[in-house]
Amino acid sequence: MTSQRDLKIAIFMMVTFLVTGIICYASFTPPAPEEPIRLMFQNKGGKVLFTHSGHIGNYSLDCIDCHHNDDGTYNCSQCHEETGDESMPSRADAFHSQCKGCHEENGSGPVECNSCHSL
Ligand code: HEC
Ligand code: HEC
Ligand code: HEC
Ligand code: HEC
Repeated sequence: MTSQRDLKIAIFMMVTFLVTGIICYASFTPPAPEEPIRLMFQNKGGKVLFTHSGHIGNYSLDCIDCHHNDDGTYNCSQCHEETGDESMPSRADAFHSQCKGCHEENGSGPVECNSCHSL
């Protein structure tokens, strides 16, 4: 047998839990996506738009195809600096040979200067 009072306490508790839940949910905003959707490279040759998520989703590439180092470093500049040498290509050389190289190998994707530097 539930008394009127017990019922009121139960309802009070349920409402309290619900409100607490909503506040907690709202105060923890979801984390920003780890992987970029698209990237715009500003450079002397003209801006390049790179569809990062498209290259993964639509063209079925693995992270390691481009992030060829396997240590969780995703920024190429961590290793490929502005000027390179025989053992380490510069950032621009690394990009040109990786981006263009794959497009040439696949026979698809832009290889002409102004089809990448299109903006
Ligand atoms: C087709 C090549 C390619 C593929 C495939 C790819 N990425 Fe990238 N990703 C890049 C390039 C290029 C950059 C820009 C790096 C820079 O500016 O130095 C980048 C940037 C990133 C960044 C931001 C790094 C930063 O410091 O801002 C993250 C994180 C990342 N990629 C994660 C991933 C993950 C995870 C995968 C696999 C699910 C993946 N990428 C697949 C080419 C690729
Ligand atoms: C943790 C360090 C590191 C990061 C980060 C890194 N690289 Fe490299 N990369 C190297 C080293 C070391 C070499 C030279 C040795 C080799 O060929 O593996 C190299 C070589 C290359 C080469 C020449 C490969 C060949 O076969 O001649 C390309 C192209 C390249 N990197 C592109 C990239 C791009 C594009 C990114 C970012 C998406 C990137 N790298 C991120 C360390 C790195
Ligand atoms: C490992 C292979 C691979 C690498 C590396 C790669 N791409 Fe691509 N890319 C492709 C393929 C496959 C397509 C699809 C071509 C088609 O379907 O017409 C493509 C298409 C494109 C397109 C046109 C369509 C779109 O999605 O915008 C651009 C621009 C492009 N790539 C830029 C880049 C740039 C910039 C880089 C280097 C940061 C890069 N790609 C690296 C494989 C690659
Ligand atoms: C597949 C796409 C692609 C093609 C084709 C391409 N580029 Fe690039 N280019 C890039 C990307 C990506 C970068 C790197 C941007 C960055 O480092 O932020 C770049 C960088 C550059 C830079 C700046 C270099 C620096 O040291 O700052 C110049 C200049 C340039 N490209 C000229 C050219 C010329 C000329 C051609 C034709 C012979 C060409 N590019 C073809 C994608 C491309």
